[in-house]
Amino acid sequence: MDSAALWKLSYGLYVVGVKKQEGQFGGSVVDAVAQTAAGDRPVLVLSSMTNNLTNTLIKKEEQFMLSVLPANVDPFIVANFGFQSARDVDKWANVPYSLKNGLPVLDCTVAFIHCKVVESKELGTHTLFICEIIDAQNGENIAKPLVYADYQENMKDSAMEAFKQFKETDKPPAKKTEASKQSKETGKSPAEKKAQWRCSMCGYVYDGETPFEELPDDWACPLCGFGKDTFEKVE
Ligand SMILES: Cc1cc2nc3c(=O)[nH]c(=O)nc-3n(C[C@H](O)[C@H](O)[C@H](O)COP(=O)(O)O)c2cc1C
Repeated sequence: MDSAALWKLSYGLYVVGVKKQEGQFGGSVVDAVAQTAAGDRPVLVLSSMTNNLTNTLIKKEEQFMLSVLPANVDPFIVANFGFQSARDVDKWANVPYSLKNGLPVLDCTVAFIHCKVVESKELGTHTLFICEIIDAQNGENIAKPLVYADYQENMKDSAMEAFKQFKETDKPPAKKTEASKQSKETGKSPAEKKAQWRCSMCGYVYDGETPFEELPDDWACPLCGFGKDTFEKVE
């Protein structure tokens, strides 16, 4: 079997936030999420690895929050939540977040979804959590959601590099810490403070230090590879 073929299923990447103990949270990156019913009582399923702390915490708490990662997510966020266990580190201390319904939501999220476990099924290496969606809201980030296949093809190496740097310096990336400070001080998301440019091909929103207009003519979208002229200013 070629597991890369499964990356073509079109789904996203999410960060689970779940209570660990009073005032402390665990959680991890997950891709195995699907909405399986709509209407008045929407249902979502999450497949969670049994040897992860997140799995143990969800079983105990019977609820969790999903932050939907944006296409322009800082690869460090994936590394922070996906490459290490909350048994060893306070993952949420490394990223900007706020509490919604008592659970952590990433500042960069495009939407957050509060799930209550109503049933679960053990599948050996994984537990399938069947959940009622008890709240769902859009976030402030106007970027499109990250597609799992794009992560696998374009972002995985950056996530690994970000994790390597984090391990070497023992500090999360400074830029994002600064950005989170601004958003908390002004009450505005960093995205609101300067003009944004969005790729009309894949939805990637440029968020670099260099003003978009000053990028070289041969600059290309880091997600889909299309040129600068496919970008539109977001008003
Ligand atoms: C891209 C990516 C996708 C992942 N998808 C899932 C998933 O769907 N379900 C899951 O249980 N773990 C998934 N993981 C693995 C967990 O995020 C990872 O094992 C994490 O370190 C567990 O941390 P914890 O022990 O704090 O729960 C994924 C990791 C990455 C990097």
